[in-house]
Amino acid sequence: MADDDALQAFDLRPTDTRVGAEIYDLDLSKPLDDGTFRAVSAAFDRYSVLAFRGQDLSPEARIAFSKRFGKLQINVRSEFNKAGYPEIYTVSNILTDGKPIGSGDAGRYWHSDLCYLPTPTRASLLYALVVPERDGVTLGNTLFAGTCASYDTLPATLKRRLEGLRAVNSYNAMFERKASEFGVRPKLTDEMAKSYPKDAVHPVIRTHPTTGRKCIYVCEGYTTRILDIPEAESRELLALLFAQVIKPEYVYRHSWRVGDLLMWDNCAVQHLASFDYAPLHRHMERTTVEGSIPF
Ligand code: OGA
Ligand code: MN
Repeated sequence: MADDDALQAFDLRPTDTRVGAEIYDLDLSKPLDDGTFRAVSAAFDRYSVLAFRGQDLSPEARIAFSKRFGKLQINVRSEFNKAGYPEIYTVSNILTDGKPIGSGDAGRYWHSDLCYLPTPTRASLLYALVVPERDGVTLGNTLFAGTCASYDTLPATLKRRLEGLRAVNSYNAMFERKASEFGVRPKLTDEMAKSYPKDAVHPVIRTHPTTGRKCIYVCEGYTTRILDIPEAESRELLALLFAQVIKPEYVYRHSWRVGDLLMWDNCAVQHLASFDYAPLHRHMERTTVEGSIPF
């Protein structure tokens, strides 16, 4: 199939914010031909969040599609990796025999996935199995904020001040904060802390590896400290950047349907889950594709 035909191979509908597009009429249960895959990749770089609607995907099909974008990561909280499929991480508030089947507090704070690793996630792909609904209203939305557009509109003096700065991103700091704030995960013991990834240092402003755009790469969920400046200044700058990223004009709010596969770019967007549905159930499964070292 020629590239031009491939562009017509699915129905793409951009959202009315600066990020996100829905994709209809594309079946991901079978391998995509190269032309269609290139068109999907181009749409991913252009829109940063793609919602593939109406899918019916086995774990194998999700893994195979995800792998076309790179190597899959295995989450450190192995108790929530799907049995037989370590590349699939469960996000859910469902209990079986009194035990959680997945992470019940994923997405509590604005964040970029696995930014606490030296080589963070490029793309996350989250598949909706159970979506909560009350009185005909879908609950448990996921929000996405564009980090490139929010960088672009910073004042030039601030952009200069941020040049070359690096920040600490900490899995353990996030874990402790969530444990004390929401109580659905155990307290972090020294032994657990040792087994989890060490803090990673990344640029505060990073360059997108494929589009070349500059993006804000500090997030409320994991970033604890900007290095080499006084602590008070670090706090002030982080607060300012967190607020900048989530300005409503750069936010897309995804309302889920069962069978959505949602794919997002963790450099170009940060995301947040809305916790408005308990005691209703929600069940999602995620794969994450490794990216490159941020620069
Ligand atoms: C994730 C995540 C948010 C949600 O899976 O990485 O942050 O809405 N999920 O479930
Ligand atoms: Mn996440």
